[in-house]
Amino acid sequence: MRIDVVSIFPEYLAPLELSLIGKARQDGLLELNVHDLRSFTTDKHRTVDDTPYGGGAGMVMKPEPWAQALESVSRTREGSKPVLIVPSPAGERFNQALAYELAEEEHLVFACGRYEGIDERVIDWAQDHFTVRPVSLGDYVLNGGEVAVLAMVEAIGRLLPGVVGNPESLVEESHSDGLLEYPVYTKPSAWRDHDVPAILLSGNHGKIAQWRRHEQFRRTAERRPDLLEGFDAGGLSRADRNAL
Ligand code: ADE
Repeated sequence: MRIDVVSIFPEYLAPLELSLIGKARQDGLLELNVHDLRSFTTDKHRTVDDTPYGGGAGMVMKPEPWAQALESVSRTREGSKPVLIVPSPAGERFNQALAYELAEEEHLVFACGRYEGIDERVIDWAQDHFTVRPVSLGDYVLNGGEVAVLAMVEAIGRLLPGVVGNPESLVEESHSDGLLEYPVYTKPSAWRDHDVPAILLSGNHGKIAQWRRHEQFRRTAERRPDLLEGFDAGGLSRADRNAL
């Protein structure tokens, strides 16, 4: 996969050189380039923003530097349109299903807005060159798209073949099956008056799997009941149904 990130703070993306994503880049599993939006300006002051038409607080990002930057990164193989992800609190919600969907793409471009946002005409213009998806990390406001890009690139990048050493760990984690993950424990089995649940020491793998599944339902019902809306409870055991 190829990823391009355009930002006025390229240094913000430095953590993408670390850990699993950094290693994936070194191993050639992921080609990731960060571009400074200001390098696509033509004036002496390298201006990227201006006051909003219609008045109001703050500044809006000018269209031309964005068009130049996006044109330069969209020049890839003929025929396939890259996906342009515009992080914004006004976008569709990012979740694990979208991470899986985007992990199938060949080329992702992230446009990090700052200030009050990017001139909307950039989004309209970009439809001819990209599949455009405004995406929100959650219902809160960040100062810009960079932190959202760190989260999204990590969530997407770890799904690429070969990035996570043991692919089984992707199967058993929260949200992979629409439920939250079961609790996990390690040694020692007794610690400060808190014992590991006895079932996990029993060696009975069937019972352990049943207990873990039950914990997934119990936790999800307690912490994220919204995830269970529309969940088909018909195929569940009585114990799991009781956790709902
Ligand atoms: N930029 C500012 N706030 C954001 C959010 N909640 N999600 C994605 N990008 C953003």
